[in-house]
Amino acid sequence: MKDTDRQPEIRVLPMPSDTNASGDIFGGWLMSQVDIAGSIAAHRHVGGRVVTVAVNEFVFIKPVFVGDLVSIYASIENVGKTSIRISLDIEAERERGKNDAIKVAKAVLTYVAVDANREPHKIPIKPE
Ligand SMILES: CC(C)(COP(=O)(O)OP(=O)(O)OC[C@H]1O[C@@H](n2cnc3c(N)ncnc32)[C@H](O)[C@@H]1OP(=O)(O)O)[C@@H](O)C(=O)NCCC(=O)NCCS
Repeated sequence: MKDTDRQPEIRVLPMPSDTNASGDIFGGWLMSQVDIAGSIAAHRHVGGRVVTVAVNEFVFIKPVFVGDLVSIYASIENVGKTSIRISLDIEAERERGKNDAIKVAKAVLTYVAVDANREPHKIPIKPE
């Protein structure tokens, strides 16, 4: 697959209300978007409800600014009995249409498949 064929789990535009006291995008806002993107990928694989159990890694590499187009790419790192670890790459385009996306953060989050009682349940094995 060509790099340009990659599809992000989500794309989002940070707004002025998402900034910290210095005017840059608040890290907590980005963490929340990453959690949403990871949960979408985990839910798709598990085929049902998931909850976030751990943020294993979160690295802010470059600042994010109002108006950047933020794309979050997800890939499955590991599937356990009831848990699934998702690796996420976060890129920002400062000037849209210029193909100038830069990596602004990376993260690894773990989700657990849960039933209607919020208890962990086994993730079905998917055929290759
Ligand atoms: C997620 C939750 C259901 C797990 O319940 P639990 O009784 O601790 O379940 P277990 O100990 O059987 O662990 C379930 C799986 O999670 C994994 N896990 C538990 N804690 C973990 C951690 N800190 N880091 C990574 N994986 C973890 C276990 O290894 C296990 O994986 P496996 O089945 O693939 O081997 C429970 O902790 C919970 O409800 N947490 C709150 C979730 C939530 O509200 N998230 C949103 C926060 S706003």
